[in-house]
Formats: sequence, structure tokens, C-alpha cells
Amino acid sequence: MSDLNHLIAEAQTDFIACDALPALENAKAKYLGKTGLLTDALKGLGKLSAEERPAAGAAINVVKQAIEQALNARREAILDAAQAQQLANESLDITLPARAQSRGGLHPVTLTLQRIEQLFHSIGFDVANGPEIETDFYNFTALNIPENHPARAMHDTFYVDESHVLRTHTSPVQVHYMQNQQPPLKIIAPGRVYRVDSDATHSPMFHQVEGLWVDEDISFANLKGVVQDFLQKFFERDDLTVRFRPSFFPFTEPSAEMDMSWNGSWLEIGGCGMVHPEVFKHVNIDSEQYRGFAFGLGVERLAMLRYGVNDLRHFFNNDLRFLQQFIK
Ligand code: PHE
Repeated sequence: MSDLNHLIAEAQTDFIACDALPALENAKAKYLGKTGLLTDALKGLGKLSAEERPAAGAAINVVKQAIEQALNARREAILDAAQAQQLANESLDITLPARAQSRGGLHPVTLTLQRIEQLFHSIGFDVANGPEIETDFYNFTALNIPENHPARAMHDTFYVDESHVLRTHTSPVQVHYMQNQQPPLKIIAPGRVYRVDSDATHSPMFHQVEGLWVDEDISFANLKGVVQDFLQKFFERDDLTVRFRPSFFPFTEPSAEMDMSWNGSWLEIGGCGMVHPEVFKHVNIDSEQYRGFAFGLGVERLAMLRYGVNDLRHFFNNDLRFLQQFIK
């Protein structure tokens, strides 16, 4: 029987050498299987005398239990190791820093439009909008530019079909608005306009902001005051002044180009004038009772000056290195 005790140490060594369950089951068979060493020993009991048998049986059982314990301990160790391995593989370190998210921002032209709207809003102007695809009537005829008028050629128009154009200016919004509202009227109309033109200072699509103030006693002096006041606030320069140069637009009379003082010289910033009686006639407003001023400012021009941008095309190239500079 003392022979059997060394089996415990042997089995332990065999079990420790196994690092997966199938191998462990094979190792188990050597001791506890149908033809295992302990099973043989138990079978051998029959050859012993009745006196010897109980003590021998008990001794075999002690060894058997010890080997079963070693087997269970190893089985658990293998399962624990497998689970630990799985946890390690699936682990997420939630303390790691997150992947950086890049932050978006508004386009400089949008920022400029917002600033314009906010400043005009503060002095009582509403914001009006109109379609970018216009009929001939709104873009030209109602603005006193009849068919075959040379001013149509001056506009470098994109035609959509025979009677529709991409609006060449925001002035048609004046017409839409006055068709639906009676004076007093006080609006700006910011938006995209289109002309067949492209170089460092011209883009086929650009933005204008139209201004229109119609009431019983509106004068050119009001126009100059509003525009100058706006520009001073827009550029945060109290000493900025505006001058008018006589000009011609079919929809205003008199008409002028507006220049503003800028670092010792004059820069052209848009056109303006008093609303032409023909325009009032098209929208059924009595030009004996009412008069109004209108102006059109180039938005990119204002943005270029405010941000120190020297080429208009930067605004439309979608180069992130340019655009990211405007993220606040
Ligand atoms: N619509 C004119 C242009 O695009 C500008 C303008 C607007 C002139 C309003 C007079 C009055 O050139």
C-alpha cells in the first residue's frame, strides 16, 4: 500500500504539466480511468485476506481522494487562467484620453452676414429674403430695366432659361417686399447673387446686402447717416466717413456710388440712390406720398477688409487652413 502514496506526488506533477482541459482529462485517465492505476489497485483488493482488506481499501481511498483533489484544483486553475485571459483580451481602458474631435466654425462670410444683420436690426431694420432664381420681371423689368435696355448687358447674367435668371443683385427683393407690404418699410435683404465674372476680386457667386427704407419723408441725408453709422460700427472706427459719387442705376434717381474712407484713401463699397418712381409704380406705392432710399453693399468686400483677406477666392476654396482661422 505504501507504493500508492508516491502516486499522489506523481499525479500532481502530471496535472501541473497540463495547461488545457483535454490534456488534463487524459492525465486523469492514467490514475482514475477504467484501467487507471488506482482502479487496478482497487481491483487488487479481492486478492487480499478479509483482515487486510479494510485497511488497504481505506488507504487506497485516501490516495484516490488526494488525487481527485489535485485534479479539481488543477481544473479550476486552468479555468481561472482562461477567464483571466479572456478578460484581459476584452478589457477596455476607460481612463485613456478620448480621440480628439475637431471643432467646426462658421464661415467668415456667414460671420460677416450675422454681424451686418445684427447691426441693422439694432436700428430697426427687418430682414427680408427672396429667391435666387428670379424671373426676368423681378430681376430687371420691375426695377425699371426694360427688355433691350443696355443695363441688362452690363449685368453679365447667368440665364436659367428664356425667362429665368440667377439673380444678379439683391434688388429684386425690394420688389417682392413692396408688393406685399405697405410703407413705412425698413428692411435689409442679404443673400447670394450671381454674375459671369471670376478673378481675384470677382466671383461668379457672391453676397450682397440690400437696404431699403421707405416712408413719407426719407431723404438722401438719411441714407448717408444710416450707411455711415453702420460702417463705423461694423469696422469699429468712429472716424470712418462715407462719400457719394454721382452714378446711374435704372431703379434709383438720383443714384450714387458709395465710397468709404480707409487708411487715407477711398474704397468703393456699393451703389445706392432714391427709389425711382417707376419702381414704386410697379408695386403700387404712391410716389407722391412716399419716397425711399435703397443701397446695395458687397458682403465679401466688407469681410475682406474686416479680416484683412487679400484675395476673394480664399472665401470659396474650402481650404481648411484658411477657414480654421475664423473658429473662435
Ligand atoms: N443692385 C445694384 C448693384 O448690384 C446696387 C444698388 C442697390 C444700387 C440699390 C442702388 C440701389 O449694382
